[in-house]
Amino acid sequence: MADTAPSYSNIDVRKLTPSIGAEIRGVDLAKGLSDTEFAEVKRAFLDNQVVFFKEQSPIAPDVQVGLGEMFGPLHFHPAAPHLEGYPPIFVIHAHKDSKVANGEGWHTDVSCDETPPMATMLQLHKLPSTGGDTMFASMYEAYEALSPAMQQFLQTLTASHESEHVYRGRYSDRGVDDKDKVYPSAVHPVVRTHPETGRKALYVNRGFTTKINELSKKESEVLLKYLFGHMQEPFFQVRFKWSVNDVALWDNRCVQHRALWDYWPEERKGHRVTIKGDRPFLAA
Ligand code: SIN
Repeated sequence: MADTAPSYSNIDVRKLTPSIGAEIRGVDLAKGLSDTEFAEVKRAFLDNQVVFFKEQSPIAPDVQVGLGEMFGPLHFHPAAPHLEGYPPIFVIHAHKDSKVANGEGWHTDVSCDETPPMATMLQLHKLPSTGGDTMFASMYEAYEALSPAMQQFLQTLTASHESEHVYRGRYSDRGVDDKDKVYPSAVHPVVRTHPETGRKALYVNRGFTTKINELSKKESEVLLKYLFGHMQEPFFQVRFKWSVNDVALWDNRCVQHRALWDYWPEERKGHRVTIKGDRPFLAA
């Protein structure tokens, strides 16, 4: 049988599970990426949905912005404060006085936007002595594990994604006054086609999805509860245990994630950039 495993000549890629996640070694992101390295990183990212760059050193903010821009124009977070002087950099930070930590529940980044981010790149500079893992789940696998009848039904539906309940007052402890702010909401298909791989993925999440528009309130609640439970199947997941300066790059079009805040009162800190995506669609 032909060996169909993708091969790489500029980077070293090691799969972490059969369905999602791979570690990448052999590139130093702090120095940026050459075009040939970038082409292989992009391929590994599309093939594995989330990739983890190991053995890294701290990436300067302008370099991280440049790395993000290799994938496309950057996305600006609608609520979170940014690193001073770098509007696209969102500082992920939880410590003993934090009231919330980012990404505590399963979600896809900013799915409340009409054009939600395609990808997120996070480097963590400070870690607790233990804990602070991030879990990722493949929404390709979640979709493909459903029966054909359920897949067909879900393809007829759209869902509302809202953010008022997520963002209002969330960053007040970091000095954000949002009294005049209107937070985004959007309607997206429940199943989306990935614009680059052509695979279908479930696209509803606990963080932002509030209802399925074509169903009654009760039906919508029951179906969302079922789908949110189904997505948490361990077979669809990879759990990443960070080392200092590791970088995770995930594809929000087909992955959900959850950051575990199990390390209070210790501190965890890093820099995140997100890359703009397109409007989710379901191909005929
Ligand atoms: C997030 O971007 O949702 C946070 C991820 C993390 O802190 O691991």
